Amino acid sequence: MKTEDLVRTFTEYYEERGHHRIGGSTLLPPPGDPVLFTTSGMHPLTPYLEGRPHPLGRRLVGRQRCLRTTDLEEVGDATHLTVFEMLGTWSLGDYDGPRSLSWGYGLLTEGLGIDPALLHATVHAGDGRTPPDTASVRLWQELGVPVEATEEDNWWSNGPVGPCGPDSEIFLWSGDGPPRSTPTRDERWVEVWNHVTMSHRRLGDGTLVPLPRRNVDTGLGLERLAALLQGEPSVFEADVFEPWVRLLPPLWPLEGHSLRLVCDHLRSAVVVLGDGVRPANTGRGYVLRRLVRRVLTVLWRDDPSRSLGDLPPEPVGHTLARFRQDVPPGEVLRMLLDEERRFRRLLEQGRHVLARPRFRGRLDEEDFRYLHDTHGLPRELVTSLRQE
Ligand code: SER
Repeated sequence: MKTEDLVRTFTEYYEERGHHRIGGSTLLPPPGDPVLFTTSGMHPLTPYLEGRPHPLGRRLVGRQRCLRTTDLEEVGDATHLTVFEMLGTWSLGDYDGPRSLSWGYGLLTEGLGIDPALLHATVHAGDGRTPPDTASVRLWQELGVPVEATEEDNWWSNGPVGPCGPDSEIFLWSGDGPPRSTPTRDERWVEVWNHVTMSHRRLGDGTLVPLPRRNVDTGLGLERLAALLQGEPSVFEADVFEPWVRLLPPLWPLEGHSLRLVCDHLRSAVVVLGDGVRPANTGRGYVLRRLVRRVLTVLWRDDPSRSLGDLPPEPVGHTLARFRQDVPPGEVLRMLLDEERRFRRLLEQGRHVLARPRFRGRLDEEDFRYLHDTHGLPRELVTSLRQE
């Protein structure tokens, strides 16, 4: 099943159940929002999850692009990406968590043809603040899906403040043999869909207050489930990465983790540029800058003459089209090359400055401050140049 077929099947299934389709937002939250990037499908809906009526009603379905830097170190495994898409459904004070789970089970098994024996669920075990989620346990038992209860893994929040609540996560077995063990004990159980009952709001001082009405927020990792449905061992073999993994290795002989990192970070940088962010030393622009620099660091480890100027337009255009971004691929390529040139100049300058006798020994905080403020050399760059 192609990724776009999965999106269509998902959306139509929920439209048949009274959900209205919402257009996703860009990666950029509105001004005044405390986070740099949208990290979850629910993020643009926060005001509605906190009680404001949504103009399209109380049942919504949609897709949303997200960026997570918290998962950066995990990129390169089978399932984590920096930029990814979430398919989501929302009940704004309408139906409850078990109804959401039973529809989710119906879509996965009947709609997408997944063998029910390959599913496992987790639920909230309860803690000092909230009781165990017995309604979800009952639902999973009725459906014959094994269920495991956890405390912390099954409480979802989008940061230190805002709507939050207990969740039930659905896992799909990705191993070769028959399913074994449980999601917390065996990584071959891959989390594909999270159903959160948004019951509370956490305030700045950490207290939890009940929301005026309970909502359900679900998020399904699109690339992840698509790869599993396509029978592929990782997201990098799925159709969304096809031109990247086909065209990059002949250009730069990379493999394994390095190839995955370069594909993920370049594709993510394309989407971030496509949403209008430009490289900078702070905020969103710095996240973009770090992605490009991490790519170049990997490329130049083996051959410093490699250049993003050699990137063909096809994977860039493919990604821009998938994310419905109306930017010419040539413009994105030009911005990547400009950033590469800046980084090359900075490295040359950095090597030159760090060769001074003053910087040969141990560096203290004042040295790092001086190198940053006077020469624009971030601490992590200084550290890596000194290891060369
Ligand atoms: N907000 C939940 C998540 O991101 C479900 O959408 O996992």
